[in-house]
Amino acid sequence: MERTLGIVKPDAVKAKHTGKIIDAYLEAGLRIVGMKMVHLSPEQAKGFYYVHKERPFFNDLVAFMTEGPVVLLCLEGENAISRNRDLMGATNPANATEGTLRKRFGANIERNAVHGSDAPETAAFEIGYFFNAFELV
Ligand code: CMP
Repeated sequence: MERTLGIVKPDAVKAKHTGKIIDAYLEAGLRIVGMKMVHLSPEQAKGFYYVHKERPFFNDLVAFMTEGPVVLLCLEGENAISRNRDLMGATNPANATEGTLRKRFGANIERNAVHGSDAPETAAFEIGYFFNAFELV
């Protein structure tokens, strides 16, 4: 059993895709064990994406992630991390497989609709960054 962090990003929330994305998680057999909608501050977004702080796209990424509310989800299931990554598709929607969340709802490599943890260590950091133990059922 594994847990992963999912984020419905501001582009997808604004476009009213939250329900369809949540439905896709559930249809894929992932259980939702934590969920909340928040509007991130720049400091919160910078802390979450600190591994990218030297990348040229970092400031734009922080601006994007703070432009509107996001939906944070803790998802649980067998191999939840890789299953969620398969469900999301490639980071760049242009390269994503047909039917994946980023193909369906992403516009470009930055505005790509969803985030998902990429490894057990990042999942542990990311879940702990946004949820405390009382918020996970
Ligand atoms: P995510 O999976 O949330 O992890 C880091 C995010 O940075 C990524 O999705 C994209 O939204 C963004 N990103 C990654 N690479 C680039 C890039 N080359 N240009 C702009 N944004 C990027």
